[in-house]
Amino acid sequence: MEDKDIGDLIIKAKEVCQNAYAPYSKFRVGCILLSESEKIYSGCNIENISFGLTICAERAAVSKAISIEGQKFRIKKVVIYTPTEAPITPCGACRQVLNEFGDDFEIISTCNSNLVVQKSIDELLPDSPNIKFKK
Ligand code: THU
Repeated sequence: MEDKDIGDLIIKAKEVCQNAYAPYSKFRVGCILLSESEKIYSGCNIENISFGLTICAERAAVSKAISIEGQKFRIKKVVIYTPTEAPITPCGACRQVLNEFGDDFEIISTCNSNLVVQKSIDELLPDSPNIKFKK
């Protein structure tokens, strides 16, 4: 994938970040998933007054992707944007959920200052269970 294409995904992550519903934390997160089938899914965090019901941007994007592609959805790349000084990587719950839908894909995180952190899901979630179920 070319740098220009990554740049486009970053622009989209920044756009969807604007839609975050984060009145409690004021911490907005935007996530773009590029699927193996070259489709793009966006997600932002959605908070709730019952804090534990908050949905992270990454899992919001996965919900969209599965709703549209169903079982064939596989992640090729993840891009995360936060309007912060330093980039953030996905929380533990999101790492686990993302891992369900791909094999050693890259996660690119960026922010206000344009710093970029790129890590594979295997770096972020090492030694995850690899149980195969019959379809
Ligand atoms: N958040 C995400 O959307 N993704 C992450 O990976 C980390 C945290 C959201 C949840 C909550 O709305 C806000 O950021 C502060 O934790």
